[in-house]
Amino acid sequence: MGKEPGGNVVLIGFMGSGKSTMGIRLSYQLRYALEDTDRLIEAGAGKSISEIFAQEGEEAFRQMETELLEKLAEKKGQRIYSVGGGTPVRAVNRPLLKKLGTVVYLRTRPETVYERLKDDTTRPLLQGEDPLGKIRRLMAEREQAYIETADVVLDVDEMTAEQVVERIAMCVR
Ligand code: S3P
Repeated sequence: MGKEPGGNVVLIGFMGSGKSTMGIRLSYQLRYALEDTDRLIEAGAGKSISEIFAQEGEEAFRQMETELLEKLAEKKGQRIYSVGGGTPVRAVNRPLLKKLGTVVYLRTRPETVYERLKDDTTRPLLQGEDPLGKIRRLMAEREQAYIETADVVLDVDEMTAEQVVERIAMCVR
């Protein structure tokens, strides 16, 4: 199912779909290094995602994402990439993600995301009024981009973390 046995895994999906959590578990299971693009951007900018959005705007953040993806493509070794929920939305990022490795879309229902993130303050796009409405709208807008980018789609709402990790591991073995 994967592009090549032993290749990289790229996790995409909406905020709160479990990319970071599954990335950590997979990294243990496969003994692959984990790269989380949000954390790399924060480290590079010396500030949080919320600060980047507030001080420089979303477009500046999107530009940082694209530049980082271009750099990551040069890295060698077996890696898990967990990328921001909005990364596949920019058309230019989609071939970069595909080039990085086998792209796995962790698909969730809006309600699942809402339950997980209702008290979260670190996602600027979900702050303010009607977060569930925002999740629904953004998710619907993005679905096509996720599907286009993905090699594998996993509906993870009813799956345990172990099942998700096992399915993804099967793709790269
Ligand atoms: C975003 C998702 C976030 C982060 C930023 C924007 C998005 O990453 O990149 O807040 O546009 O969906 P997570 O998916 O890891 O929360």
